Amino acid sequence: MQFAVVGCSELVTLAGPARPRIGAELRELGIVKSGAMLIRDGRIIEAGADLKFDAKTEVIDAGGRVVMPGFVDAHTHPVFAGNRADEFEKRAEGATYQEIAAGGGGIRSTVRRTRAASETELLAAAARYTEWFLRNGTTTIEAKSGYGLSLDDELKLLHTIGRISPLRTVPTFLGAHEVPDEYRGRRAEYLQLVIREMLPRAASLAKFCDVFCEPRVFPVEEARQVLLAARSHGLGLRMHADQLENGGGARLAAELGAATADHLEHTDPEGIAALREARVQPVLLPGAVYALGSRHYPDARAMIAAGLPVVLATDFNPGSSPTTSMPMILSLAATQMKMTPAESITASTINAAFSLGLGAEIGSLEPGKRADFVIHDCADHRELAYFFGIEFAREVYIDGKRVWSRRQAAI
Ligand code: NIG
Ligand code: FE
Repeated sequence: MQFAVVGCSELVTLAGPARPRIGAELRELGIVKSGAMLIRDGRIIEAGADLKFDAKTEVIDAGGRVVMPGFVDAHTHPVFAGNRADEFEKRAEGATYQEIAAGGGGIRSTVRRTRAASETELLAAAARYTEWFLRNGTTTIEAKSGYGLSLDDELKLLHTIGRISPLRTVPTFLGAHEVPDEYRGRRAEYLQLVIREMLPRAASLAKFCDVFCEPRVFPVEEARQVLLAARSHGLGLRMHADQLENGGGARLAAELGAATADHLEHTDPEGIAALREARVQPVLLPGAVYALGSRHYPDARAMIAAGLPVVLATDFNPGSSPTTSMPMILSLAATQMKMTPAESITASTINAAFSLGLGAEIGSLEPGKRADFVIHDCADHRELAYFFGIEFAREVYIDGKRVWSRRQAAI
């Protein structure tokens, strides 16, 4: 089955070297003006300016709009029950995220509700968020467990993640997200549960293991134990590092050769140097800074200057970052971290794809790659970051199949 996409004001190909992009490369989007693309059996055959195809080929006219790879959201927590609008209101009245967590709220309150939910209920909630991702132009998400925190509940979350469709998903085990209520005061026992019982079972359902590495959650000594065990089970490593304070998380990610170190709001120059040395990709999550009402954004400019292959993601979760909108993240990256729209687009497509081990398959519109792309309702890619609070996606394709269109959603 073959079809052509024509009439692209800008075909944003992200064509370039087969590795994550660094430095000035982040601004090179490989834009083809008045571009077109030929797709067969879910893969891109050709992308360029003057494409020739026979009269039998079905034609999709982008109508003078931007066509881009789907966003690859490399850090999300999409499976949970309920939400935390109540805590959000308390924070608006002055309570802090840490105070709410210390009082038994936060992650633990979502864990209580998630444990009580069936896999069917969780999948129904995830389906709602899946539609939100698609309508914002996202085609792949990395999806973490972490709201179960018992063997059965973590497996329930990983199974639910495995059933999400039609988004492409990359599952990550996050058993070390928090110490659950019944293990308060017995953290060493909880760590053993994660390492001895959860990890061996989760390893066949997940591609990565993540830890919330934070001095007051899982400090580096504990995070190291979990991540070393995960590595011995063949899992790739990701880390929540230095989000609330500088606890040496980035240095641990470097020591272990993790695929990514995420957040990094409080990472110091030595931490940045360690990441560069070890080729760890930073995943920056400005939505979590914004939604917590903080001003402490990660130092994206220093990371780009240091030659780090920066990634941007939503961190979609019910506490610190309740958004599925990658265009909103692009806006924050521009206004708060001084990343240009082009840098942000690279960080949320091809660089994100490489951070998930999928750089050869998705993240750019090049021959041989999967046809995961979006027709956005704008003529210039910079509009995606410039207008904010806008849903630009008009049609979303995964593996060459249209999985979402604004017209159908509007009916
Ligand atoms: O990435 N840091 C830990 N996990 C999330 C927050 C999860 C929650 O508050 O439910 C984060 O910010
Ligand atoms: Fe997170």
